[in-house]
Amino acid sequence: RSLSINRPKPGLEPPEFAFAFDIDGVLLHEKKALPGAAQTLQYLHDHSIPFIFLTNSGGKHEHERVKELSEKLGVNFTVDNFVQSHTPFKALVHGEHGLENKTVLVTGADASKCRDIAEEYGFRNVITPGDILVAHPEAWPFDALLDTVYKDVARPLPKPLWAPGQPLEDSLKIDAIMVMHDPRDWAWEIQLFTDLLQSHDGILGTYSDRNGDPDLPNHGWQQDGQPKVYFSNSDLYWVTDFPLRRFGQGAFQHAFAGVWERITGGEHELERELYGKPYGVTYQYAEDMLRKFRLDMLTNMGHDELGDLKRVYMVGDNPDSDIAGANNHVSKYGTKWSSILVGTGVWNEQRDGMRKLIGDREPTAIQANVLEAVRWGLDNEG
Ligand code: G3P
Ligand code: MG
Repeated sequence: RSLSINRPKPGLEPPEFAFAFDIDGVLLHEKKALPGAAQTLQYLHDHSIPFIFLTNSGGKHEHERVKELSEKLGVNFTVDNFVQSHTPFKALVHGEHGLENKTVLVTGADASKCRDIAEEYGFRNVITPGDILVAHPEAWPFDALLDTVYKDVARPLPKPLWAPGQPLEDSLKIDAIMVMHDPRDWAWEIQLFTDLLQSHDGILGTYSDRNGDPDLPNHGWQQDGQPKVYFSNSDLYWVTDFPLRRFGQGAFQHAFAGVWERITGGEHELERELYGKPYGVTYQYAEDMLRKFRLDMLTNMGHDELGDLKRVYMVGDNPDSDIAGANNHVSKYGTKWSSILVGTGVWNEQRDGMRKLIGDREPTAIQANVLEAVRWGLDNEG
């Protein structure tokens, strides 16, 4: 079935609604277009119905990812309506987080590529776990990636590691840890991150005397200037061609948080800043971008009376992420988000049934695939 709806010809009436698309499991599977995806986006494009891509994937620059997506789906996209897990990290450079000139430790499957992305975002002092390991192989003496990966891409540390007698201000200090993508080297990175979270003031090699102090609130943990930890994606799973679901970045987060809980004797839960779906910070970031995209697109077409963006349909395959996020999002402009769950990705009706689709995971509608989801949204618009 093709998409056809009872709408006036494009250009006559600016739509008050828009779509938001998850990518993996909705538009692509293992980097290949899912059936109906290209046709659906082409239809929306031809009918000037605004949409945004909202994915928890990452590890490549937005330009690179959009180019790949355009090639796979045969429609030309730009970065103007594209949000991936770490895109909202751009807002950490300035403003209340103000990390532009701070020292930021980044990681991801290809941490050196994540460094390039962070630098393009405007962070000026970015280091990777590999930089530290190359300078100090004794920090994790079993690492097979040291010779095969890190030595080729590491950069010298900006300051030496702290040692007894050395002034703290002359020593390597990490101000923030940003997990931009799914880490590959879990053991070394959990070791390094817990070292930093137990340090004094983020100075690697030191140990805070507040840790475990029974007289301090929360027993003193993470209360001595240690770096904040930012995660870009909490998805436990994603799907590949393997018959079972594969770990996403969320699995790493839980492993790290589990070790942290043991380290603190169960006294302290890991404090962290969460980005990506399902969190409101990411949905509002995407909505702000979608509003600008819609305004530019429709004014370029000659509309001057646009009206407000009233409704967004989020099409996703993951109830914990896409669906819960859309259901919980409280737009600062009063835009209403609905959620449409499709069966082409993480959620599988035969395996999962309906039993978990309760509470904030209950979608507004369930459809077989992206084309049917968009048809449902358009029908809903009359
Ligand atoms: O967490 C894995 C990532 O591939 C999910 O991407 O597009 O389904 O949000 P997406
Ligand atoms: Mg998905």
